[in-house]
Amino acid sequence: MSAFAIEAALPADAAAIRALLVAAFPTPAEADLVAALRIGGHAVLELVARDGANNADGAILGHLLFTRLTVAPPNDRRRAVCLAPLAVAPGRQKAGIGTALVREGLARLEASEEDIVLVLGDPAFYGRFGFHPGRPERMLTPYPIPENQWLALGDRPLPLRLALSYPPPFAALG
Ligand SMILES: CC(C)(COP(=O)(O)OP(=O)(O)OC[C@H]1O[C@@H](n2cnc3c(N)ncnc32)[C@H](O)[C@@H]1OP(=O)(O)O)[C@@H](O)C(=O)NCCC(=O)NCCS
Repeated sequence: MSAFAIEAALPADAAAIRALLVAAFPTPAEADLVAALRIGGHAVLELVARDGANNADGAILGHLLFTRLTVAPPNDRRRAVCLAPLAVAPGRQKAGIGTALVREGLARLEASEEDIVLVLGDPAFYGRFGFHPGRPERMLTPYPIPENQWLALGDRPLPLRLALSYPPPFAALG
């Protein structure tokens, strides 16, 4: 397995990230989602995996975006983000790149004092990072299913009840 480096995405990476997302998902919906989230100013943290440990010109092998969720009521000071999408180049999957992107992202979010991360995905993959199955009776979201998993950073307890709104571009995903 060749080396890769996890780094913040640069504006100049946009075209390569789009190509990666179009290749990794069945439709361009996720590529369009990322573009709309960026344009709308919803991005909190965007990471890429670059081929070659110290090569700034390295090809992009993976991508991960975190966006801001709105917490209700407005006087609730907790900060929440959504992990989506995560993608690794089809020829480079199952080599640890997705795991490295998520681990680096969670570490950076914890360092910047985010409180809660949500992800809608396969618990077989996200459970390894400490995500818990969604609890629809306590998490009011547009996706009230166990696969909408949560993680409280820094071992903070999950609030008793949480109402979270997604950035508008997510509605276009259906
Ligand atoms: C899902 C994805 C990001 C994982 O990235 P990756 O670099 O292949 O993952 P890793 O190599 O870090 O995988 C680590 C483990 O997760 C498992 N895994 C990978 N994809 C999985 C999936 N979709 N569901 C469950 N487990 C998965 C691997 O088998 C591996 O298991 P192991 O450690 O027990 O051997 C990648 O497969 C991908 O881009 N898929 C297409 C896009 C997609 O579905 N994204 C997810 C959106 S939530």
